[in-house]
Amino acid sequence: MVGRICGTGAYAPPVFASNEDLENVVDTSDTWIRERTGIARRHIAVEDTAVTMAVKAARQALANGKIDPEAVELILVSTISPERVLPCTACEVQKQLGAVQAVCFDLNAACAGFLYAYNTAQAYIRSGMYKTVLVIGTEQLSKLVDWTDRNTCILFGDGAGAVVLTGEENGRYNMTAHSDGRKGEALTCRTDGKIKMDGREVFRFAVKSVPECIRELLEREQLLAEDIDYFVLHQANRRIVEAVAKRLNVPPERFPMNLEEYGNTSSASIPILLHEMKQKGILKPGMKLVFAGFGAGLSWGASLTEW
Ligand code: UT7
Repeated sequence: MVGRICGTGAYAPPVFASNEDLENVVDTSDTWIRERTGIARRHIAVEDTAVTMAVKAARQALANGKIDPEAVELILVSTISPERVLPCTACEVQKQLGAVQAVCFDLNAACAGFLYAYNTAQAYIRSGMYKTVLVIGTEQLSKLVDWTDRNTCILFGDGAGAVVLTGEENGRYNMTAHSDGRKGEALTCRTDGKIKMDGREVFRFAVKSVPECIRELLEREQLLAEDIDYFVLHQANRRIVEAVAKRLNVPPERFPMNLEEYGNTSSASIPILLHEMKQKGILKPGMKLVFAGFGAGLSWGASLTEW
């Protein structure tokens, strides 16, 4: 059994902060942010929370996949910015969706979180334990950001994305995943604190480890990079995405991006981008997609999915 994505959804709160807005908050400029990151604005949750954004993205994914909430057997939420520690975000989402049959839990693998949740869903489906799984990445990072720190506050944004997977006999899926806790101090956030990051170290880690794990995945599946239709990467920095494309010797057009609009939404970035690709009609049955995530932990990985 393989999980096939039958529905996608995304939500970003209506309020956004442009680079010009941030020029009034810290010593930065629109030009610096665009050139060094590719970001122009980021959405900020004022009324919304990780729960409300997750519910909106999930409703859309279920409607899009024509799946009744009562048919969902497992809800996995990836978040580092829950509204509350208890109950878990997945249980709150379950309540609001009326997904009464579902088993629910959250997981935290930071910016690799959606990928890890997606892999967890695939593992449950492959084992035969569950057939219909809702996977959500939702983040209200604006509340974890130190708005006086120009190294981080220009990067992050709020939003949620969701996919619904159903188990089918045919389809292709494989994964690679890694963690290295020894390098964890590069990107931290205490439960009572704000995000702290050694940007250069995380940048170096990303441009080295993401192409490596994608190559590892392709080797496992005996595929070449040119066999992949789209590489859907965690949206952390335009220069990271372009560097990965270059190292894999793949034209950058096959690395879609939406950083300009959302900034880095951590575990929401891959499902938001995937939803936009689906809405634009660029995903066709049989296409091969590689998802890749990386971030705090350090944690990183890639997975192959057939659309
Ligand atoms: O989601 C996964 C986790 N996060 C990431 O993947 C982030 C990875 N890292 C990055 O994306 C980049 O390292 C940043 C965007 C965070 C920083 O870009 P950079 O090109 O690595 O800049 P830098 O830290 O090397 O700083 C270059 C200069 C410094 O000035 P000096 O020392 O050369 O005079 C910084 O003080 O740019 C300065 N700078 C800024 N200037 C204007 C740093 N932040 C800003 C800013 N506006 N916001």
